[in-house]
Amino acid sequence: NTYCVIMAGGVGSRFWPLSKTSMPKQFLDILGTGRTFIQMTFDRFKKICPIENFMIVTNVEYRNLVRQQLPELGEDQILLEPLRRNTAPCIAYATNRIKAINPNATIVVSPADHLILNVEEFLFQLKTGIEFAGKNKALLTLGIPPSRPETGFGYIQIENKIENDNTDHLYKVKTFTEKPSLEMARIFIDSGEFYWNSGIFIWSVDAISEAYAAYLPDMYERFFTKGEDKYGTSSEVFFINKAYSECQNTSVDYAIMEKADNVYVLCAEFGWSDVGTWGALYAQQPKNEDNNVVQGENVFMYDTQNSIVNVTEDKITVLQGLDDYIVVETDDILLVCQKEKEQQIRHFVNDVKLQK
Ligand code: GDD
Ligand code: MG
Repeated sequence: NTYCVIMAGGVGSRFWPLSKTSMPKQFLDILGTGRTFIQMTFDRFKKICPIENFMIVTNVEYRNLVRQQLPELGEDQILLEPLRRNTAPCIAYATNRIKAINPNATIVVSPADHLILNVEEFLFQLKTGIEFAGKNKALLTLGIPPSRPETGFGYIQIENKIENDNTDHLYKVKTFTEKPSLEMARIFIDSGEFYWNSGIFIWSVDAISEAYAAYLPDMYERFFTKGEDKYGTSSEVFFINKAYSECQNTSVDYAIMEKADNVYVLCAEFGWSDVGTWGALYAQQPKNEDNNVVQGENVFMYDTQNSIVNVTEDKITVLQGLDDYIVVETDDILLVCQKEKEQQIRHFVNDVKLQK
């Protein structure tokens, strides 16, 4: 009864210039493990979910990337979106496709681009969550103990503990706040009552369908009611293209998790990181004696510390006198940026696009 939906339609702009619209983060092997983020995500979930129960939701532009990187999956397991509308339509589409196959399914929804170091612990927590979500009409998310006032995450405030045989860390959720201000994030962390939303959700078809009906009624009508007999048929693509062109652009976090009153969180530590930026990657990777992370061959470094370097191998790179920098070179772009200013990379991407 377990299905797994991998959301893989984002553009990962903060990893520019390595990650770009034509080749976003989830399709890159930024860690140098030999597997890309989406492949590692698939490898983890296939230990608890039959291969035929996977659905990858992505933009039509990335169809071939998914086919190449996950050749195990059938064509009908790749759901193609005509437009970027964030995660709410993405989950509505996948839920309905699964519902047409198995209305009693329990669905795990996961981002395609996260790093998990302790896979065994992760799978244990996941099984606990799947069991809970299969028996209760719950919108369950995996929560992570926060370590810094990061503003790019959802913050979850816990309420009552739920009795469970496998864990002492299952709670009813009191509030869910997506991407708070820095000021709020600090208050949340200091209070000790908050966890980060990992973005990995578990729920039954019933529970998530009811949430769309209650909090996204337009989307419910478009994807659930009107589409009921379309999923898995030859008219699906036409129907989906129309539904996307009409539906709003919003994430499941803002539209459902912040509003619903049956949200639960399973809090656990399994070496989770969303490795969202060069700085986060730097923090996570092993460093050399000068505290540098160097990815790529043929790099000569002098008086350079605390920096992350990711360069193409067909050129020699020589760096002198850098402290706390990001240096990334691709075939056509060279980026040199102070590590602490990395939030600006998103703006660089826009400026470069305008120039081209
Ligand atoms: N198919 C599809 N279509 N996938 C999408 C789309 C879309 O339009 N937009 C984003 N995604 C995918 C991304 O590729 C990623 O795998 C996942 O959905 C989450 O989207 P992000 O854009 O990375 O969300 P976020 O990082 O800002 O926030 C989410 O994740 C945080 C943890 O990393 C939220 O769930 C936060 O609450 C959470 O803390
Ligand atoms: Mg993300």
